[in-house]
Amino acid sequence: MNSSPWWKEATIYQIYPRSFFDSDGDGEGDLPGVTSKLDYVKSLGVDALWLSPFYTSPNRDGGYDVANPRDVDPRFGNLEDAKELIVQAHKRDLRVIADIVPNHFSDQHEWFQAALKSNPGSKERDRFHFYDANEDGTPPNNWISIFGGPSWTQVEDGQFYLHLFDSSQPDLNWENPEVNADFEKTLRFWIDLGVDGFRVDVAHGLIKEDVLTNHFDPQGLSNALRLDVAMDSQKRNALLLTVPYFDRQGVHEIYRKWRKLFDSYGDREIMAVAEAWVHPPVNATRYIRTDELHQVFNFDLLTAEFNSDVLFDLVERSISLNATVNALPTWALSNHDSTRVASRIGDEQARALALFVFGLPGSAYVFAGQELGLPDGQLQDSDRQDPTFFRTNGAIKGRDGARVPLPWSGDTTPFGFSTGKPWLPISQSWEDLTVENELADPKSSLHLYRNALELRKEFLVGSGGITWLESSQHGHKNDSLLSYLRGSVTVVMNLSDSAKDCDATGKLIIVSGGIVDARDGKKVIPARSSAWFLA
Ligand code: NOJ
Repeated sequence: MNSSPWWKEATIYQIYPRSFFDSDGDGEGDLPGVTSKLDYVKSLGVDALWLSPFYTSPNRDGGYDVANPRDVDPRFGNLEDAKELIVQAHKRDLRVIADIVPNHFSDQHEWFQAALKSNPGSKERDRFHFYDANEDGTPPNNWISIFGGPSWTQVEDGQFYLHLFDSSQPDLNWENPEVNADFEKTLRFWIDLGVDGFRVDVAHGLIKEDVLTNHFDPQGLSNALRLDVAMDSQKRNALLLTVPYFDRQGVHEIYRKWRKLFDSYGDREIMAVAEAWVHPPVNATRYIRTDELHQVFNFDLLTAEFNSDVLFDLVERSISLNATVNALPTWALSNHDSTRVASRIGDEQARALALFVFGLPGSAYVFAGQELGLPDGQLQDSDRQDPTFFRTNGAIKGRDGARVPLPWSGDTTPFGFSTGKPWLPISQSWEDLTVENELADPKSSLHLYRNALELRKEFLVGSGGITWLESSQHGHKNDSLLSYLRGSVTVVMNLSDSAKDCDATGKLIIVSGGIVDARDGKKVIPARSSAWFLA
């Protein structure tokens, strides 16, 4: 079945280019590396790929510290390589989504360098958030950056500049028209080069208000804002309602302008997905009103427990909130900022949850390596590169574990990823998890993803909403089975540690693990497994 526009129920594969495939032996993945693996990407059954940043960058924050947003960093190749990647993706009917990072630049960007050389109050400083120190010499407020440590860094003449992330990522001042104009130029630049959409980094952060106001628990808030820091969910939610620098009304004005720009490309159907982790969750829907962006990430599944009440509430809420703006949800189990799902909830559970989620209405995002069932890489502290690790003096390990390069082939690390030394070590224990090995094993996670995505396209995409199924054996009030009907497919997930009977009828078309016992007209779902039945 087809869904129009293309992104509405697309499956989108997130590639972290540095970790995908290294074409030149320097130990880091690159754009030609991605291009050379597009047949693999296509074979997964996805509709598009989203590339994390590959722009000119000193790489203090994995490329989310952009020094020139309209060029490619030499470590990833050059603009011709980017063009070729897009052309080759389009040849395979794959769309390309680029990451855009509007909240901050790198301190190496020419604007910031000019600001450092200019006086307080100058137009160069006005592109960022420069403030005088308090009378006692302390920073303008007590905010703690999301990567730890103060949100302010002092420059030579005594002024401080604001950075919600690393000190090498000065926040931009979106009240300044030059900032607006520059980003419109960047959007057009990449659309004209061929990209089909954007993932908007920190989409909720561009407008700052009350910059001089302190927060009552700045360290707690910084932890709550990190997907890789575990925290009691009530405590987290309460803190997240108090973020002083996110989700201000002014951001929507920016996206209304962007939407006009996207729409001016007519039938190219340029889309944008917002990284807007805002609270309460209803606020996220504002980013996808019909005159703003097209999708907003739902972050709930990145931290949710494998528990039927939690998952029922989460799915129900996401579908119904999105419906208020006539949109469909997005679903993601992993990304480059969070612990990989197989490590977080377990391998079998991760497969079960993926199959459960692939049946739902909306767009599914898959983080490269998730299809292989990769866990987080086990790293020594000496390997770590995430600024969070350094800014918290090692108290928070950071996100490198999720960014370990992909194992492709062979029996010895680095498993075909590179002919050189990979930028993060790949454990020998991943031997069974290479693409090559999983292709050879029909029961592998890779085959599960490929089969599921094919069936999703055939039977589920475009087939409307879901009806939760409840009975004595299954339903959201039962803590072991969660089940819904969509179109002609019944999806059942058994969250418990033992096999469970269920009432589903129809023909089994896929199971995430184990064997569905269908003797005597019954259907017995294996422990920690999901299955689809076709009416
Ligand atoms: C969110 C990105 O996903 C993350 O990797 C990055 O560190 C921050 N935004 C800052 O750009």
